[in-house]
Amino acid sequence: MDVYGLIGNPVGHSLSPPMHEAGYETLGLDARYVTFEPAADAGAEAIEAAETLGIDGLNVTIPFKQDVLDAVDPAPLAERIGAVNTVDFSGDTPTGYNTDAVGAVRALAHHDVSLSGTAVVVGAGGAGRAVAFGLADEGLSVRVANRTESKADALADEVPAATGHGLDSLPDLLADADILVNCTSVGMEEDETPVPADALHSDIAVLDAVYTPIETRLLQDAAAAGATTVDGAWMLLYQGVEAFERWTGEDAPVDRMNDQLREHL
Ligand code: ATR
Repeated sequence: MDVYGLIGNPVGHSLSPPMHEAGYETLGLDARYVTFEPAADAGAEAIEAAETLGIDGLNVTIPFKQDVLDAVDPAPLAERIGAVNTVDFSGDTPTGYNTDAVGAVRALAHHDVSLSGTAVVVGAGGAGRAVAFGLADEGLSVRVANRTESKADALADEVPAATGHGLDSLPDLLADADILVNCTSVGMEEDETPVPADALHSDIAVLDAVYTPIETRLLQDAAAAGATTVDGAWMLLYQGVEAFERWTGEDAPVDRMNDQLREHL
């Protein structure tokens, strides 16, 4: 039996076990997905322990995404982002990937969003970093907007062809933009949004990384403006799909995993 799992602290609320196990079941794979909750300072030790035990793959979430970098051989994108959310133990040394970046890209592609032109990434924290690097790697021009403008500038300095801005620039930044991704936590509270509704338009695709609630105020405003909308569950789904495919070498049964994820949201 293959064993995959998640390390995080806390992990109690994770939607990954039902999503991944639906995938194993659909493909007839003899595999399980389990959650582990190491002490908050034991991320690197947990990777070593998993390798010793013969665990096949681990997802990594808060607070370990940066800590485990030193315990793995990071793929180039994960190294540039500075965070790992997926570890593959099939090689001589554990390899670390960042599938959050690819997750956003694949969520947009699933909705036939053209991955070209200009993207506005709101937020410069962990999610913002991953998405900014992921979209820039696809060839998009990235504009990072953040409440703390200096953090947007610092991130933009690292991402190819990116610029940094404060949130008050959003109307100007969005006027000719093709894609908007919200990577802040704003939207988890009812009726809050990081983006003024009148800055949205019908020529933009809007992905919200927030998935509780699933229909955020931002996505409601975007739909009202005639924009293409992609909810945060798609990004969550595709970071998992990307990990699943790296570990198993099989195409993931995306529809089944999506159904299962949404059932548990
Ligand atoms: P994550 O890993 O989910 O990205 P994070 O690293 O804590 O979480 O980053 C949170 C992001 O949400 C940051 O960009 C933060 O802006 P600051 O850098 O200015 O703190 C943004 N954010 C959080 N609360 C916000 C709010 N009320 N208004 C605007 N931006 C907010």
